[in-house]
Amino acid sequence: MLYPDIFKKLESARWSMMHDIPWHQFTAAKISEQQLYGIRMNAILEWSAMPTAEMFLRDNQHDADFAAFISIWFFEEQKHSLALLEYLRRFAPHYVPCEKDLAKVRFTFDPAPPLESLMLHFCGEIRLNQWYRCARNWHTEPVIQHIYTLLANDEARHARVYFEYMKRALQKDHDKAALAFSKIGILMTNARLNKAMHPTNLHVNQSLYPKDTVNDQLPDPTWLSRWLNDEICFDEPWEKKVTHGILGSLSNLLMNRFESMQALHQYRKLLIKNTEQKKEAVYG
Ligand SMILES: [Fe+2]
Ligand SMILES: [Fe+2]
Repeated sequence: MLYPDIFKKLESARWSMMHDIPWHQFTAAKISEQQLYGIRMNAILEWSAMPTAEMFLRDNQHDADFAAFISIWFFEEQKHSLALLEYLRRFAPHYVPCEKDLAKVRFTFDPAPPLESLMLHFCGEIRLNQWYRCARNWHTEPVIQHIYTLLANDEARHARVYFEYMKRALQKDHDKAALAFSKIGILMTNARLNKAMHPTNLHVNQSLYPKDTVNDQLPDPTWLSRWLNDEICFDEPWEKKVTHGILGSLSNLLMNRFESMQALHQYRKLLIKNTEQKKEAVYG
């Protein structure tokens, strides 16, 4: 069981909202209306950990170990939202979103294959880590810069924990896990899709299609791409860090060398062929 050790590690890295954020250093002249608006939207986006946690618990009823970890993950993601809300409450109360705006990002996700969700969120954490590093550099006000540093570090830790559960999944059933991880890895490193490949941008409820992404539930669904492209300027070099992070981790995990999405694609094609051959050998 991974949960007890993960609990210890995350407990020892935990920061306090009261004591580890230098609230007294706030400098009003160093924050703009545009930046405050971004903090507001980001707080709502982080609140979407709620439906994601509900999805994880529902789809992992067979896996008490992973479900136990989700209690920590959910707590920390809600804390991210709360830290951003607290910033607004203290320094720009007119930007605090109303409860209705927060509630709107909580909607039911369709059931999804657990291993694919695991990989999807592993990639999501890698991406968020880079988004928040980039946001920290773009921000000019020291308190919010500090908050984004804390958030970025938490997201990196979350990715490392998901990685541990991915390793465990490979030990249990290598081919099944490798197929799921490579499938999502290809999707999440496909630059040609030309949009931010993050779980909040994916369709998750067929009955609400096409407006069934978390991002669609934000009061301003256009904000995220504007924030990434025009404001924090999450450009090619940042995008490469995400891709390298995902491909590097998969290389390590699947004991292969994936320098590009195409290499991962080739690996997957071969894996499909091999698993089909194995099946034929067993069933004739
Ligand atoms: Fe977060
Ligand atoms: Fe996270």
